[in-house]
Amino acid sequence: MERLTSPPRLMIVSDLDHTMVDHHDPDNLSLLRFNSLWEHAYRHDSLLVFSTGRSPTLYKELRKEKPLLTPDITIMSVGTEITYGNSMVPDHGWVETLNNKWDLGVVKEEASKFSELKLQAETEQRPHKVSFYVDKSKAQEVTKELSQRFLKRGLDVKIIYSGGMDLDILPQGAGKGQALAYLLKKLKTEGKLPVNTLACGDSGNDAELFSIPDVYGVMVSNAQEELLKWHAENAKDNPKVIHAKERCAGGIIQAIGHFKLGPNLSPRDVSDFLECKVENVNPGHEVVKFFLFYERWRRGEVENSEAYIASLKASSHPSGVFVHPSGTEKSLRDTIDELRKYHGDKQGKKFRVWADQVLATDTTPGTWIVKLDKWEQDGEERRGCTTTVKFTAKEGEGLVWEHVQQTWSEESKVKDNSSWII
Ligand code: GLC
Ligand code: MG
Repeated sequence: MERLTSPPRLMIVSDLDHTMVDHHDPDNLSLLRFNSLWEHAYRHDSLLVFSTGRSPTLYKELRKEKPLLTPDITIMSVGTEITYGNSMVPDHGWVETLNNKWDLGVVKEEASKFSELKLQAETEQRPHKVSFYVDKSKAQEVTKELSQRFLKRGLDVKIIYSGGMDLDILPQGAGKGQALAYLLKKLKTEGKLPVNTLACGDSGNDAELFSIPDVYGVMVSNAQEELLKWHAENAKDNPKVIHAKERCAGGIIQAIGHFKLGPNLSPRDVSDFLECKVENVNPGHEVVKFFLFYERWRRGEVENSEAYIASLKASSHPSGVFVHPSGTEKSLRDTIDELRKYHGDKQGKKFRVWADQVLATDTTPGTWIVKLDKWEQDGEERRGCTTTVKFTAKEGEGLVWEHVQQTWSEESKVKDNSSWII
């Protein structure tokens, strides 16, 4: 959050499973559309927050399976764990507030008396979250009885039913909504209260997100029965909450447009994007557009045209250098020339490219440094390079690529120099 010197333009607080991530879409198209939109138009002045029911262990697994961006803030275990930045620094202050009228031992002891409750995996049992599976038909009754027992034992807990199967027991002060309220308060104290906040969800544990004041909300089209029921009973007349027509991340993009929160056209939805000129020079845009072009070129989705190659060469400096992750230095223009032979080589294959954490700085006037993580999914294999691009901006001439340097990202499992192009 330190990188922001003023209040973020937009803060998106999104659930992951069946909201940001569509488990029914093996191509992850709506997620990739959201990713390009975020990196293109929001990353530099906005905040991305993931709020998931998953524990840190399962969250990290999902990151390996799906092309998720890196959020600024990660809220896990149904609002009981808040962490910041890439290194996920925990918010200890938040954890302390959760100990009020909470006793893990008593919660487990009382819950164990219900044969209808089946304990979830060990990874999902957290210091302030105890989770079970329970049949839909039993959920209401069990919840009621459990609450009475906890009350008798002097505890103040919250029981949440999600996805028609998961039952979570948390401290009363926890949950996704309370975690968001805490975050907003914290940002306000730092003078960084977001201009707009959009909460996105699909199931029971997301309901609270939609009752935080001044927050826009979107229930994605595929929202669960329990969330729609909650909405009908509690928030029907709130114009700030919509039920989207589109699934998952598509619904998030729809809500950005509906509430007029900023640009809502993903670069992935523009077919002739190399032609699309933006009013203000933003080198971050150039990079997002280039890697999207690169994906389409290799998938054979753009025509094999000399015009593209010529336009790319024209915007790169004649003596520009590309430092390959192997350490080899090549001419930037030669690298573009070589692209010719890769046109369509990934046609019909599971090949996707996305940029994460695109940030541009203008240290000296007329010079921009753009940093990003460039990821490539090729079938089952994923690899990524931390990429630095130096641009110069000349009056009336647009941006010129001066220097590109790539090094293998630490998280990149595969580091195969021979098949990496750029
Ligand atoms: C995630 C968690 C699970 C929890 C569910 C609903 O699936 O892994 O423990 O019960 O979210 O909050
Ligand atoms: Mg969900």
